Amino acid sequence: MSKKLPKGFLWGGATADFQYEGGFNESGRGLLSHDYETDGSKEHPRHHTMKMPDGSIIEPKSSFILADSVPTEAEPVFLDDEYYPSHNAVDFYHHYKEDIKLMAGMGFNIFRFSVCWSRIFPTGEEAEPNAAGLKFYDDVINEMAKYNMEPLITICHDEMPMNLALKYNGWTSRKVIDAYVKYAKTLFEHFGNRCKYWLTFNEINAVRGFGPTGVRNSEGQDRYQADHNMFVASAKAVKLGHKLIPGSQFGTMFAMSGAYPATCKPEDMFHYLQEKRENWYFIDIMGRGYYPEYAAELLQRHNVKELHMEPEDAQILKEGQLDYIAFSYYRSNTTKAGDDWFNVGGDSNPYLKETPWGWPVDPLGLRYTMNEVYDRIQKPIFIVENGMGAVDKADENDYVEDDYRIDYLKDHLSAMADAINIDHVPCLGYTMWAPIDLVSLSTGEMKKRYGFVYVDMDDKGHGTLKRTPKKSYNWMKHIIETNGSALDE
Ligand code: BG6
Repeated sequence: MSKKLPKGFLWGGATADFQYEGGFNESGRGLLSHDYETDGSKEHPRHHTMKMPDGSIIEPKSSFILADSVPTEAEPVFLDDEYYPSHNAVDFYHHYKEDIKLMAGMGFNIFRFSVCWSRIFPTGEEAEPNAAGLKFYDDVINEMAKYNMEPLITICHDEMPMNLALKYNGWTSRKVIDAYVKYAKTLFEHFGNRCKYWLTFNEINAVRGFGPTGVRNSEGQDRYQADHNMFVASAKAVKLGHKLIPGSQFGTMFAMSGAYPATCKPEDMFHYLQEKRENWYFIDIMGRGYYPEYAAELLQRHNVKELHMEPEDAQILKEGQLDYIAFSYYRSNTTKAGDDWFNVGGDSNPYLKETPWGWPVDPLGLRYTMNEVYDRIQKPIFIVENGMGAVDKADENDYVEDDYRIDYLKDHLSAMADAINIDHVPCLGYTMWAPIDLVSLSTGEMKKRYGFVYVDMDDKGHGTLKRTPKKSYNWMKHIIETNGSALDE
């Protein structure tokens, strides 16, 4: 079966503001929940730098994988001897014209980026948005329009203005729902005439803890209350967006690394069912518009006594269902009885090779996941992140021969084409993570590179920031110009 994709298929790339944009002191941007997060590595997890009332410094681990609790009395503090990657990232803020031109050169017709919430509302609570912040994204979108590239805007990518985190304990408070809806309305009114596709949140099923959700405690009651408030915020935004932007399409992005039972032992199979529900919980509520029956058992397992819901919430969830299901897919894992419920990454699979960061490579898992999500929700899907983090060796001209990345992408795109052409899964498009090298979310490293374009910068932010296309750049260009047919070559 040919790998050629249907006419109008959206081809592009995806990024997140605090990993890509930089410019943290510019255009009146306020502090963001990630601005006090250090760099790290696989062996040394990233952390926040915080000060206790007695002056001592604490370093709570900060990724969503390892999210330590942050004491109520701890205040964020910048330390001179720490490096904070979000401040400059790879400086899209000053390189947007060059980067968009490079993406257009590959034939992208869509670019997924996230708006930095604290660039629009620096504390999250201003009466009026920050005009200079809006102008930056105006400039970005207008530049994209020159190349007929449309935006896919992530309203909130694992972040919030620091003020909302500190003042309200992040998403545990319904005040943050109001702040988010006001922020989303601003984006709809300002960019709605140029943006049809929106994502209300990024990887909502995986985010937790202080950096991603502004919540000091990453487990149990607080985590699931925060999730409920995000469901309501998303549904309100979807409803409002549909009203303000005729023809708009809304998704939320779910982290969908596939899970397999480690064995066919019934206990492992049942654990697998329950672990799958750790993700379905989010997709079912947002994609079908109501809490599933199994939620009671899941919440009990997570020591949640009772979620606070307002009487109108059920109706809001029903009316604010997603139009399409977006997900990231990087890998799969295995699971067995006795494993932790929050098992990001999970166990490896003896049948699969792994990247240097231990992520199993499983292209068929992408086809499996596309089918599984569509079978269940019956709404179009959108693959909004997929890619391979690898250590690239650049030559003296900064050129990288990344055949391993080409292999990874070829196999995954082929599996995607099979899901679309053979299994008839409706899929709006594919945005690869991340077209231009940027800072890794989980480790804060620069050497975990994903891009088609090499950026001269090291793990501590040193380098010229020069952009140089890798071998995969021209390969991807050819795939896009043939709308997938070249995957058969
Ligand atoms: C997803 C996130 O989890 O995976 C991105 O939405 C992230 O923000 C991407 O960068 C890849 O993960 P990492 O940790 O390799 O950067």
